[in-house]
Amino acid sequence: MVRTLLLKASESRWLRERGVRAPFVRRAVSRFMPGETFDEMLRAAQELRPHGLDAVFTRLGENVGDLREAKAVADHYVDAIGRIEALRIGCEPSIKLTQLGLDIDRGRAREYAREITARAHAAGNYVWVDMEQSHYVDVTLDFVEGLKRDFPNVGVCLQAYLRRTAADLERMIRAEAGVRLVKGAYREPAAVAFSDKREVDASYLALSKTMLVRLHGQNGARAVFGTHDTKLIADICSHARAQGIEPGSYEFHMLYGIQRAEQARLAKAGERVRVLIAYGTYWFPWYMRRLAERPANVWFVVKSAFAR
Ligand code: FDA
Repeated sequence: MVRTLLLKASESRWLRERGVRAPFVRRAVSRFMPGETFDEMLRAAQELRPHGLDAVFTRLGENVGDLREAKAVADHYVDAIGRIEALRIGCEPSIKLTQLGLDIDRGRAREYAREITARAHAAGNYVWVDMEQSHYVDVTLDFVEGLKRDFPNVGVCLQAYLRRTAADLERMIRAEAGVRLVKGAYREPAAVAFSDKREVDASYLALSKTMLVRLHGQNGARAVFGTHDTKLIADICSHARAQGIEPGSYEFHMLYGIQRAEQARLAKAGERVRVLIAYGTYWFPWYMRRLAERPANVWFVVKSAFAR
């Protein structure tokens, strides 16, 4: 119920316009975001390095309705990849196709995604494509397949809550794309997505087992588990050990500010771990989805409303 309300709030333009101006909401969001600028993201990424943690970065924004804005986003990523190359740090971009204009001009969005991927390839970097609502899954996988024909350095997010994902995983394995498996963060109808947490977790574990065995880093095909669920993480690690799969041949990605101790513990145990750091001014829908994942987080917002 609270999850549904928060996910509805994430879709409200009225709330977004007011929410980002409220000082207590801004204070509360800082738990998940080091700042709104690229430089603040870079500083946070550098601070992770002594803990054995690499990063993924994303400039927040979605459903862009103006091609000039989509072009500016593409230029930003191209420039950002250059800055990361110069600094020689492990920091990979994660992009959203609707932020590149997918809703208004698919051809241009494809062109922008290609520019980013080509720049990343030249820089020895790797591009992750986020997965958005279920009606974008087909077009997202088509884009990724197209990019993979020309570049090895592309991976896509798949969502374990979707009933279709086992088939999509097969398709991405055939394309030799990287796969970052997550549970899924949007409001979806029961016909397309599991709503029961136990079903989502069972789907996640079953898909993970396939990924561990079939995605092994050849030609950019990486197996990445994007989760903070410590039980699932332990199950994935024990399954890997039972199959003789070494730490380092798969990865865990987590969000900045969530399960920090687990991030450090895994890295110390020899697992490969990246932290996804978000920045930018368009954080409201993204932040509402973070609250929806753990409604207890709403208390942080309430507390920060009363903090000085
Ligand atoms: P679950 O929600 O069961 O949480 C397990 C535990 O982790 C909780 O008990 C809590 O302790 C902690 N936790 C989880 N979320 C928390 C939060 N917000 N605040 C505090 N604690 C929290 N989704 C999507 O649809 N498309 C995408 O492209 C991506 N991309 C993406 C990248 C990466 C690197 C990650 C980690 C996640 C995503 N997601 C995503 C989000 C994903 O779908 C999912 O909503 C969240 O990861 C939460 O699910 P968990 O697997 O962590 O499990």
